[in-house]
Amino acid sequence: MTDRSIRPRRLRSSPAMRRLVAETRLHPADLVLPMFVREGISEPEAIGSMPGVVHHTLDSLPRAVEAAAEAGIGGVMLFGVPLEKDAVGSGATDPDGILNAGIRAAVDAAGDALVVQSDLCLDEFTDHGHCGVLRASTSSATGYEVDNDATLERYRDMALVQAASGAHMLGLSGMMDGQTAVVREALEGSGFVDTAILAYAAKYASAYYGPFREAVNSSLVGDRRSYQMDPANRREGMLEVDLDIAEGADVVMVKPAGSYLDVLADVAATSSVPVWAYQVSGEYAMIEAAAANGWIDRERAIDESVLSIKRAGADVVLTYWALELAERLRRS
Ligand code: PBG
Repeated sequence: MTDRSIRPRRLRSSPAMRRLVAETRLHPADLVLPMFVREGISEPEAIGSMPGVVHHTLDSLPRAVEAAAEAGIGGVMLFGVPLEKDAVGSGATDPDGILNAGIRAAVDAAGDALVVQSDLCLDEFTDHGHCGVLRASTSSATGYEVDNDATLERYRDMALVQAASGAHMLGLSGMMDGQTAVVREALEGSGFVDTAILAYAAKYASAYYGPFREAVNSSLVGDRRSYQMDPANRREGMLEVDLDIAEGADVVMVKPAGSYLDVLADVAATSSVPVWAYQVSGEYAMIEAAAANGWIDRERAIDESVLSIKRAGADVVLTYWALELAERLRRS
């Protein structure tokens, strides 16, 4: 006879019991909503590859930020989609460029209700679509390569313009070596001592960014494998995180989230700063597409996907479902 006095099912026996023993909970404050603001449109525009997500105009953005604040979510992450692009991404450092104007509009609307974050990367602003500036290279098959240290100069200027526009937190997503140190030093040197840095520390070269590239009209030819991480590498994620913390990151991030829960759990186990995760556009689009076909229970799949990211160790999740989830959590 086996002893059946140990019955794990006891704690699953009623909704009240299950609710009481749940180890992980979602809360609106733990969610950040990524948002797009686009130049040259007069009405918000749907993004085909991301059903339910829109390009905002400078006029529609403030109301959407207020709605996010009313839903109680923790923050928003802004991406800009400019009309004009060039080799060095000049729009990124133009104080009147779309992202910097968007930051000012969002910060005004947010008040102190939520944290306004801005993407600090050149890819939306360069005509070649890379996250940095290029230089000729004889060793590369394409004849060019992304110039790490020249890119850092651009990131430094971008950081100062974004901070001056009022961004509370800068999201360093370009995966250049030394970017956190350069931005931290520039912020300190210019008196922006309270501008926080969110380092996309372990950011992988992922197919799951596909829908986002449509969302930002990416002109990328080729790939980002010489700067974003190889999906094969787990240990290297810790190296990137350790470096970013040493360089002055206030928060570190793992991205994408769902396929990198092992990396996330490693980082969460040792990090001395908050650990966030970005549930990216492809993760969003896959569930939306399966649900639209009737192949998956949409709400359950959304809840499970975000809960799993928290369970693996994320303190905060960036997700395109942030608003919907927050509103649902408030009703329940
Ligand atoms: C870089 C950036 C990207 C994403 C966020 N910041 C694109 C990339 O690295 O190619 C992707 C986000 C998503 O897929 O939802 N500016």
